[in-house]
Amino acid sequence: MAEKVLVTGGAGYIGSHCVVELLEAGYHPVVIDNFHNAIRGTHGLPESLQRVQKILGKEIEFEEVDLLNKDALSSLFDKHKFSAVLHFAGLKAVGESVEKPLLYYKVNLTGTIHLLEVMSSHGVKKLVFSSSATVYGDPKYLPIDESHPVGGCTNPYGKTKYFIEEMIKDQCKAEGDWCAILLRYFNPIGAHVSGRIGEDPQGIPNNLMPYVSQVAVGRREYLNVFGNDYNTPDGTGVRDYIHIVDLAKGHIAALKRLETSSGCKAYNLGTGVGYSVLQMVKAMEKASGKEVPYKIVARREGDIATCYADPALAAAELGWKAEYDLDRMCEDLWRWQSHNPTGFSTEH
Ligand code: UFG
Repeated sequence: MAEKVLVTGGAGYIGSHCVVELLEAGYHPVVIDNFHNAIRGTHGLPESLQRVQKILGKEIEFEEVDLLNKDALSSLFDKHKFSAVLHFAGLKAVGESVEKPLLYYKVNLTGTIHLLEVMSSHGVKKLVFSSSATVYGDPKYLPIDESHPVGGCTNPYGKTKYFIEEMIKDQCKAEGDWCAILLRYFNPIGAHVSGRIGEDPQGIPNNLMPYVSQVAVGRREYLNVFGNDYNTPDGTGVRDYIHIVDLAKGHIAALKRLETSSGCKAYNLGTGVGYSVLQMVKAMEKASGKEVPYKIVARREGDIATCYADPALAAAELGWKAEYDLDRMCEDLWRWQSHNPTGFSTEH
C-alpha cells in the first residue's frame, strides 16, 4: 500500500508540482487547500490538480480544508492514516504582509499551530516545511549555507517563515520522536514540462519571472527593473533561480530522509548559481523569441543585492541536486505561459 502523505496548500504553484512528483514516486498524496490562491475547476477540484490528473492519468484525493478550521483538520486526520505531512499552505506576498501583518501572523502561524497540534494528537510525527531563504535576511556572506544566522527578516511574511521554523524545532525537541525537515527555497521558477501547470499569480505579479513572462506574452507592456545601482556585475539584483521540478524533487528526497533521521534539520534548495535581473530578461527573450522591454526604476524597499545558496548539505545528506539549467527553466516557463496566456483560466 502506498504511503499516504498530507499536502497542505497542494493546489498552489509549489504544492501542485510536488503532487506530481509524489505520485510519480509512488506516494498517495491527500491534498487540502482553501482556494485562497487557487482557481476552482469542475468536480470540486482545483484547476491545477485537475490538470495534474490529466498529465499523469491518476486520480487525486482532495478536500477543501482551511488550516484555521482545526475541527475539519482533525476529522481529516481521523479519516486517513498519514505517514508524513508536506506543509505548503500559507500567505506569501511580501508587500501585502507589510500592510496586513496580523492577517499573516493569524493565517501562517495559527494554521501551523493547528497542524502541529492535530499531528501530535494523531501520532503523525514526520513533517517537511516549506521555508524560504528569506529567513537568512541580508546575507552576511555568500554563498549562504545552513549555518548562516537566521531571523533578520524585515517583513511579516519572512518573519512567519522564521517563527514557524522555530516552532517546529521546539516541537521536535519537546517530543523526541518527531522528525522534521525545513526546506529553505531560493527562487523557484519555471513549470512542469507538459506546459499544463505553472505559476498563476492573481493580479500584478510580485515576483520577477511571472512578470517577465507576462511581458513576453503581451499581457504587460514592460518590466520595471527595481534598481541598477546594486553592488553586482550589472547593478541589478542577483538571485539563485531554481527549476520548480528540481525543487519538487527535493521534497521527495526530504521525505525519504525522514524515514531514517530524527530531530529537526534545515536544508537549502538552490542551485548555487546567481543570475541578475538583466540576465534573466535576456534568458527569457532567448527562450520565447520575444522582446522583453524594461525600464529601470527605483529600488524596491527591503530588497537585497545578492542571494545564492550553498546547496552542498542537501547533496550530501538528501542525495539531491538541482539538475535543470537556466535555459531549461525559461523554456518550461515559456511553454506554460504561451499555452496559458491567462493562467489557469485559459480555456483549452
Ligand atoms: N525584480 C524586478 N522587477 C520586478 C520584480 C522583481 O526588478 O517586477 C527584481 C527584484 O528587485 C530582485 C529580483 O528581481 O532583485 C527577484 O525578485 P523576486 O520578487 O522574484 O524575488 P525575491 O528574491 O525578492 O523574493 C523571493 C521570494 C520571497 C522570499 C525571498 C527571499 O519571492 O518569498 O525570495 O528568499 F522571501
